[in-house]
Formats: sequence, C-alpha cells, structure tokens
Amino acid sequence: VKQIYIGLLGLGTVGSGVVKSLLANEDHIIAQTGFQVRVKRALVQNLQKQRSVRIDQDFLTTDAISVLVDPEISIVVEVMGGIEPALGYIRSALQAGKHVITANKELLAKHGDELALIAKNAGVRLLYEASVAGGIPIVRMLQAYLTANRVTSIRGILNGTSNYILTRMQGAEVTFAQALAEAQQLGYAEAAPQSDVEGYDAAYKLSILANMAFPVQTEIACVDRMGITEIEPVDIAFAKQLGCVIKLIAEASYKGGQVRLSVSPKLLSQSDSLATISDVFNAVTVEADVVGELTFIGRGAGEMPTASAVIEDIVEVLRTPTIPATAPKQKGTCAGVGVFHLRE
Ligand code: NAP
Ligand code: HSE
Repeated sequence: VKQIYIGLLGLGTVGSGVVKSLLANEDHIIAQTGFQVRVKRALVQNLQKQRSVRIDQDFLTTDAISVLVDPEISIVVEVMGGIEPALGYIRSALQAGKHVITANKELLAKHGDELALIAKNAGVRLLYEASVAGGIPIVRMLQAYLTANRVTSIRGILNGTSNYILTRMQGAEVTFAQALAEAQQLGYAEAAPQSDVEGYDAAYKLSILANMAFPVQTEIACVDRMGITEIEPVDIAFAKQLGCVIKLIAEASYKGGQVRLSVSPKLLSQSDSLATISDVFNAVTVEADVVGELTFIGRGAGEMPTASAVIEDIVEVLRTPTIPATAPKQKGTCAGVGVFHLRE
C-alpha cells in the first residue's frame, strides 16, 4: 500500500469531517485506490481550541509554511475560507507542485481563472467539488459527464443555510434570527453568514457552475442577486395561504451567446420540483440538449456531506493526477437586469 500525505489548511467543520471520514473509510479507500491517505498536518488559528476530532497536538500548526513546503505533502486541502490568506497559500501550494482541493466558493468565483492557470502551468490538479452544493457531485457531473452536451440552463437551491432558515420559518414559530442561530450551530453557515442570507454564497456557486456548464466565461459581477433577509413571517404565511412556499432560487441560462444569472427568493407552487427541497438539502436541475433534464438532490452543507465531496476529490487526484484536456473559453456577455448586482 502506497502512502499519500495531505496537509489541511483549516480544521473547522469541513476539515474535521475530512479527518473523520478518511479514518472511518481508510480500508475502503485503500481497497478502491491502493493508497493509504494520511493527514500529516493541519493549519489552524487557535491551538488551544476544543476540537471535535481527537488528534495529536503535534499535528496542529499555526505556521502555514510548514504545510506548504513539506516535501512529503502532495495534496493541500484548503478548508479555511475567506480570500486572504487562503488565496496566497493556494498559489504557493500550486506553484510548489502540490495538488490543491478547496471548498472555498468565494475564492473560486473571484480568483478561479487565475488559480486554474497556475495549476495548469504547474501540471497539478485544482479540484473543488465541495465548493458547490455540499455532498452533491455536481461539479464532477458538469466537468466529466456532461461535456458532450450543450447545457442550456441550470436551476436550483444552492444555499443550505437559507433553505434551512426558510424551512424552519415555514414549519414552526421560529424567527429568522433563531433559525439562523440553529444553522450556525449545525455548522451550515459561513463564518460571515451575511454571505448565506444575502445570496452571495449562492451567487458564487452559480457562477462556478455557469463557468463549467456554458461555453463562455462569465464574471460573478453578472449575477442579479437578492437574499432572504427581507422575508418576514407575514410573507411566509401569505405564501402558505396561496398553497405556495418561498425558496431562494438560483438560475442560470445560456442563449444566443448571452449568459443570464440570478439568485432571488421565489414563490413556488407545490407542483414545482424545488418546492419540496427542505432543511439543508440542495437541488440542482440541469437542462442539456442531448440528455434532457437531470436533477440532483442531496445535503448542501454540513460536516460529513461536505467532507464526502472533499474526499472524492482526493480519490480523483490519486486516480488522475494529470490535468484532463480542455479548450480555452472566450469571455461571455451577460444579460442581467442589473438590479441586484453582486458588485456593490
Ligand atoms: P470553519 O468551521 O470556520 O473552519 C475554518 C478553519 O480554518 C478553522 O479550523 C480555523 O482555525 C481555520 N482558519 C481560518 N482562518 C485561518 C487563518 N487565517 N489562519 C489559520 N487558520 C485559519 O469553516 P468551515 O465551515 O469548515 O468552512 C471552511 C470552508 O469550506 C469555507 O470556504 C466554506 O465556505 C467552505 N464550505 C463549508 C461548508 C459547510 O457546510 N460548513 C460546506 C461547503 C463549503 P481555528 O479552528 O483555530 O479557528
Ligand atoms: N454556507 C453554505 C451553505 C455551506 O449554507 O450552503 C455550503 O456551501
């Protein structure tokens, strides 16, 4: 059995899930790949913090360099979040010839093109299954299994926290603030939860999907965005009276060379397939010319569903350490109405 060492940048909700799932499925991963995957070191901010994983104290570090330059570490998993210092660390890891796996949708939506180019020049993989829709393998689906199809639209629920909040507000006498506190407690929310409830998180994810699915590259500034913060109990009650539910819907379409991207709360009738997607679940419906409509449903946030996506990326690197061929894309034009533009 060959050993492969990974370095974690972050040991919070997702990082802890990765450590737990690698341990729990160690034998299975060896049987599937012939590799024993070992986490060598984890970068954290606070060495004294109580952790949900039992780990040797030597395993933790506050020194990123010790992870980034360790010649034994061949895969760096970034699960710390934010732009800096994560962006600088990922650049350094790629330039040092290490494969990088990240769950950081904001960073990918804003700097993904630059990082993909660095990875290409270094001949290493940059993988990000966990960045969109938690445990649903939608990134790989678009990158590997729908490449001969022309994708015309994507529609879905891409933020677990806001779906959890809307579900709780719909089903019980819970205020927005209480439901958000629950989502934070459950490890679903971002460190800055405005990103979830203002629709930024879903907008980042939508732009990542659109860039993979459509033949042109778009900017996140194209997303018409509105979150759920202005939805009040009276709106939920009114929707109920109409036999409807309110959901935060992300939509992307490509037509006539133009991309249209939007994230906003929508009133859905019960017959809409997204109306029954509740709690932390996400759903993504892809419309493509050859296959027709495909829908994927699964947990969109949380420790283990997200860890699943990360460890699937680790296995992908073990199986295919070289970059699959892709053609360069032209910049696309956007057809947004420009009311809730992502760029403030
Ligand atoms: P988290 O629980 O807040 O964990 C962040 C970890 O990174 C912590 O271990 C923290 O150290 C460490 N960290 C943060 N800033 C650091 C810095 N400047 N230097 C060193 N260490 C630092 O976050 P999370 O929920 O796991 O999310 C991590 C990433 O995954 C984010 O990009 C998020 O968007 C993405 N993601 C999360 C989920 C989810 O369900 N939670 C799902 C998909 C994607 P300490 O432990 O010492 O504080
Ligand atoms: N905060 C994000 C969500 C985590 O609630 O969907 C998963 O990307």
